[in-house]
Amino acid sequence: MKRILVTGGAGFIGSHFVRYQLAQYPGVHIVNFDKLTYAGNLDNLAGVDESRYTFVRGDIADADAIRAAMESCDAVVNFAAETHVDRSLMGASEFIDTDVRGVYNIVEAAKQLNAKRVLLVSTDEVYGSIDEGAFTEDDPTGPRNPYSASKAGGELMGRAYHQSFGVPVIITRGSNTYGPNQYPEKVLPLFVTNAIDNRPLPLYSGGEHNVRDWLYVEDHCSGIDCALRNGAPGEIYNIAGGNERENIALTHRILELTGRDESLIKLVPDRPGHDRRYAIDASKLRALGWRPGMDWDEGMALTVQWYQENEPWWRRIKTGEYLEYYKKQYGENG
Ligand code: NAD
Ligand code: DAU
Repeated sequence: MKRILVTGGAGFIGSHFVRYQLAQYPGVHIVNFDKLTYAGNLDNLAGVDESRYTFVRGDIADADAIRAAMESCDAVVNFAAETHVDRSLMGASEFIDTDVRGVYNIVEAAKQLNAKRVLLVSTDEVYGSIDEGAFTEDDPTGPRNPYSASKAGGELMGRAYHQSFGVPVIITRGSNTYGPNQYPEKVLPLFVTNAIDNRPLPLYSGGEHNVRDWLYVEDHCSGIDCALRNGAPGEIYNIAGGNERENIALTHRILELTGRDESLIKLVPDRPGHDRRYAIDASKLRALGWRPGMDWDEGMALTVQWYQENEPWWRRIKTGEYLEYYKKQYGENG
């Protein structure tokens, strides 16, 4: 793979993946195709080696545009998506445009162009919630919110294109990812940046009952890379962090690392249909040689330190559209 198309490369995980590829593979050229929605941010790619990197502004829901971008590349890795559950609960139209129609456009173009590899970055949320144990790739999916339903829809189209036409589609399902450059609508950067500002941390439903499995962003990138290079077409690979934490425990850790106390915790009404626990088994990807490298305590310390040292990055975001969304989502509780 000499030229890889990365869609959504200006977002959180996509931008780390662009850097990861450029650092690991000196012969690779990356084409980043991104619509630059509210979540896309070219600051995330500041300083990348421009001689091995090209940016194209475009929408994966635009069939001609994505096909044209794919023509010059050997492989495509799709990160482009609407990604926030709470926004999908306010209205899912854009989720369907990007996460379903956009993925359809990618696999259809891959069929026409005989693409060598199509990796669809998906999520553990497509399995739905699980009280005990962990989902494997053979378990049925059961998405329970509009975001995860749209991701499952895109996945199904990818799997159908593999079955029907032999398009070499590989799917990864990652768990909750954390690290630098995450848009501060997601719980971890939201709570860290609010804590820095001494503002309330709006915790849904008390936070004791909800569990997420945290995966450091570089480990998510190395997992996707492992599936891309060593995985088999038509297969699905779980990428788990192995760091299950109740939301209340995560919140306490953030307060500790930012030097704040519990008085900042604000219990707010629950998310509708809130999935209690996500858990996946990554044995299948581990069998291909992948291992997560980041220790939880170190990853959290590095992440909090990054937000402390990069205030201009998130203060630029926490204006305009962000503040409108925040008011709509949290109202008086913000
Ligand atoms: P993000 O919201 O930070 O970034 C999404 C990027 O996609 C942005 O740069 C945005 O501009 C771009 N984009 C959106 N719609 C587009 C379109 N129609 N055409 C082209 N570009 C478009 O997302 P993220 O958190 O980095 O997630 C990346 C991928 O990983 C998503 O597919 C998501 O479902 C998946 N995922 C995320 C997590 C997580 O915890 N963040 C976990 C598992 C899987
Ligand atoms: O599991 C993978 C998924 O993780 C990804 O596919 C999604 O793109 C990503 O957004 C994330 O989804 P979650 O819904 O798990 O992440 P979020 O950060 O929105 O919420 C994490 C937990 O924190 C969840 O139990 C809800 C809770 N929460 C969230 C917010 C935004 C709060 O208590 N308060 C909040 O303000």
